Amino acid sequence: MTKTVTILMATCAVLAGAAGVHVVLHAQAATGAGVYTDAQAKRGMPLYKEQCAACHGEDLRGNDIIPGLTGQMFTDNWQGKSRGDLYDKIQMTMPALNPGSLTPEQTTDLMALVLSVSKYPAGNTDLPSKVEALQQIKIDKP
Ligand code: HEC
Repeated sequence: MTKTVTILMATCAVLAGAAGVHVVLHAQAATGAGVYTDAQAKRGMPLYKEQCAACHGEDLRGNDIIPGLTGQMFTDNWQGKSRGDLYDKIQMTMPALNPGSLTPEQTTDLMALVLSVSKYPAGNTDLPSKVEALQQIKIDKP
């Protein structure tokens, strides 16, 4: 009897532990928290100023004609899509006057900057510049 209870308790502890890990991983994948590094966002900054700010604004808020890359409208536009979709959009269509000119690393550095401006917490690993990996990361509210 005592033995069964001990085994049950041990099993519960293992299950609870596994559930905890799952919740953490899920939360990260869902919000984009911890999916980029501060260093990566810093690399994106000069590039943003040079290639994007003229249209999307120094503060990434856009204007009446050009959409912002932070704030409510941007979140609404991308909610439920993946980081891979956003990567494709930037890589294939931006900067609007010279699309396709960014390297994969430049595109993910810019995405890291966009995440940091919207206050998603940084982590220890760079946002990968492989679209397959980015497809796994869903976009959610910061
Ligand atoms: C010449 C002006 C111009 C420049 C420079 C420019 N963009 Fe854009 N961008 C636009 C316009 C106009 C749109 C809206 C039309 C569209 O989605 O293609 C847009 C849309 C976007 C979107 C989609 C926004 C949304 O809510 O759907 C992203 C992301 C984006 N730009 C990123 C960038 C990045 C990163 C750079 C710098 C590498 C950049 N853009 C440079 C004009 C520009």
